[in-house]
Amino acid sequence: MNLFDVYPLNNITITKAQGSYVWDNEDRKYLDMYGGHAVISIGHTHPHFVNRLKEQLDQIAFYSNSIQIPLQHQLAKKLGEVSGKSDYQLFLCNSGAEANENAIKLASFHTGRKKIVAFSKGFHGRTSLAVAATDNATIIAPVNATDNVVFLPFNDVNALTEYFNKEGNETAAVIVEAIQGVGGINVASDEFVQAIRTCCNNYDAVCIADEVRYGRTGKFFAFDHSGVEADIYTMAKGMGNGFPVGGIAIAPHIKPKHGMLGTTFGGNHLACAAALAVLEVIVDENLLQQAEQNGNYLMTKLSAIDELKNIRGRGLMIGFDVAGEHATLRKELLSKHHIFTGEAKPNVIRLLPALNISLADIDAFIDKTKTALAELTLSTVG
Ligand SMILES: Cc1ncc(COP(=O)(O)O)c(C=O)c1O
Repeated sequence: MNLFDVYPLNNITITKAQGSYVWDNEDRKYLDMYGGHAVISIGHTHPHFVNRLKEQLDQIAFYSNSIQIPLQHQLAKKLGEVSGKSDYQLFLCNSGAEANENAIKLASFHTGRKKIVAFSKGFHGRTSLAVAATDNATIIAPVNATDNVVFLPFNDVNALTEYFNKEGNETAAVIVEAIQGVGGINVASDEFVQAIRTCCNNYDAVCIADEVRYGRTGKFFAFDHSGVEADIYTMAKGMGNGFPVGGIAIAPHIKPKHGMLGTTFGGNHLACAAALAVLEVIVDENLLQQAEQNGNYLMTKLSAIDELKNIRGRGLMIGFDVAGEHATLRKELLSKHHIFTGEAKPNVIRLLPALNISLADIDAFIDKTKTALAELTLSTVG
């Protein structure tokens, strides 16, 4: 059997990893400024994470959601404490798309309505409702296309308010990334986030914050920087530092009913152990604050490089534009300087490193970026 060929791959085979570094099968060392797509939150093979998973594996890896799983309660308690949402309820699943799928479905159950507001350049995953709320026609299959999702311009308070004045009573939910990731690191303004909250309040719609990349911005949830709260926060990616685990944190006024949501794998013993290990490291190593400080440091250093334009983001969720002769910077960083970064089309580089990346590694990244830019300038002049 061959693999179904859907991924454009780099010709690199990674065989081991530690902290912010990975090594290929020829023992070449790479700096990981991409965190395997914002997944590596506490660093590759963090010893606490590895030990906790090994210990759990020796006890029990999985049993279905038909029995008591105390680890789920421990995770809910810890998540509530660290995120400041102790009164919210937790539903566990396995991925970001699944988290958003459940959030939208729950909003529809809760309100009895069908219309969902999503935003230009938003990305929420590839399953049916999540992809229908994603602003990318090329990944929406005909069966996923629906008139129930309305796309409004991101960061446009007037368009949002006008829409709600007309259609608010039909609207089940608004789903938004407070910082758009795949869309190219676009930060929602405080006014925009607050307007979403107000519209949802005025029309009893559910406000869903897609926080699949949570923990990177200095606050647990990026949405909370604007001083208002969402009704549902969706989580995945860094939640298990590579172990597949997702979840949604649900405000107390949204009530559960048996059978309303469900999953076979969600909340299994190993997944809970992984998510707990991540939260324990986040607290022990003060990683929310460190992400903010090191992110500010990185952004200041990037801002001093003339060739990089429009540096933006918050904490360790950073994007910038590269253009003209420097447009191939990302490829050069990987092939010549052995640094992984992320991209967004057309010419955006995204940085999503582990939350505990060191200042020395950030400095090394900046030095190599300067060298790569100089090489690119020379090659066009030459
Ligand atoms: C904001 C956001 N939401 C949802 C998803 C989908 O997550 P997953 O790939 O785990 O389904 C992603 C993935 O990149 C994302 O960035």
